[in-house]
Amino acid sequence: MANILVTGGAGYIGSHTCLELLNAGYDVVVYDNLSNSAQESLNRVESLTGKKLTFIQGDIRDSVALDSVFAEHQIDAVIHFAGLKAVGESQQVPLTYFDNNIAGSIQLVQAMQRAQVFNLVFSSSATVYDEANVSPLNEDMPTGMPSNNYGYTKLIVEQLLQKLSLSDQRWSIALLRYFNPVGAHQSGQIGEDPQGIPNNLMPFVTQVAVGRREKLSIFGDDYDTVDGTGVRDYIHVVDLANAHLCALQNRLNHNGCRAWNIGTGKGKSVLQVKNTFEQVNGVKVAFEISPRREGDVATSFANNVRAIEELNWTPKYNLEDMLKDSWRWQQQNPNGYRD
Ligand code: NAD
Ligand code: WQD
Repeated sequence: MANILVTGGAGYIGSHTCLELLNAGYDVVVYDNLSNSAQESLNRVESLTGKKLTFIQGDIRDSVALDSVFAEHQIDAVIHFAGLKAVGESQQVPLTYFDNNIAGSIQLVQAMQRAQVFNLVFSSSATVYDEANVSPLNEDMPTGMPSNNYGYTKLIVEQLLQKLSLSDQRWSIALLRYFNPVGAHQSGQIGEDPQGIPNNLMPFVTQVAVGRREKLSIFGDDYDTVDGTGVRDYIHVVDLANAHLCALQNRLNHNGCRAWNIGTGKGKSVLQVKNTFEQVNGVKVAFEISPRREGDVATSFANNVRAIEELNWTPKYNLEDMLKDSWRWQQQNPNGYRD
């Protein structure tokens, strides 16, 4: 079975993907600098699967270390999660984001080229779409200029990977445009473990429910949506993880660079998420309505037909599953991996 290098594999989406890779029989080498994760996530992946993976602590900007990873392991393909993802922080320290996400990705593909490894799956984001597009968003719609530096790094890396694959037919690259990943593995053993105050809706909701935060601020209730609150396409992290295995399979038989949306195709409002969370988990989430958050759009959800048809991928989990699984993880690990 193939040997997959997973950059950022100790993180939220990476750890779930490593688990699915091991269960499917792949060998896994994780390369992560642990800047936003804990190695404990990988210990748990090993105990959940009963299989071993190789962990190497290192930075994607370190070309010498990357060369030795490729020299010491016979890598067949790379799934590239490593990078920074906090939208607000990216406005404060843009160069840190350009360095980790853009320069780091360039270092990685250079090392891949030196090692003659040309199969790559890249974590992109729905944030690359032009805000003027009307949902459902499909992959042929124009990309835009993201309103924040984080989104800008995703757009730039997508574009440079597209140019790279045009210049050399040996490259085979999947750009997976994630919508809003939430949920956790059903065991409750691995999940999202944000440092500090969460930026994203789901960890904020679970931290309020568990008593770590006082109340949820709902950013705006005057959007042109079903109930005035923002609408997003929440996708279960296990479905998202499996999309990477489908993309790996697809890339074995195709050259070039291609983008796929990874979402359920269904939009849910913030109030729907909060209310459904309360219903399925039997807990209250205190909230207040706050002003709109800068840079937010009213509605964003995917047309996911391309991924369903071309990748043989189908999302299996609904919003109730996502909210139950997020809550199980939070309850079992009130302080994340720091227990
Ligand atoms: P995460 O922070 O949990 O995982 C990222 C991992 O990369 C972490 O383990 C971190 O330690 C590691 N890392 C960061 N910089 C590195 C570097 N320079 N060298 C080596 N390792 C480094 O985030 P996640 O939610 O699992 O996201 C994974 C990828 O998916 C990221 O590229 C992110 O931008 C992208 N993405 C995430 C979302 C989301 O909402 N979670 C949505 C769209 C795209
Ligand atoms: C979802 C909805 C908020 C927090 C971000 C990035 C995007 C991608 C995914 C990486 C919105 C509302 C949120 C809160 C709230 N990341 N909200 N109170 O903004 O769709 O996407 O994460 O690629 O690039 O921008 O996700 O979870 O922050 O927000 O009311 O405390 O919840 O306004 O409508 P978003 P989110």
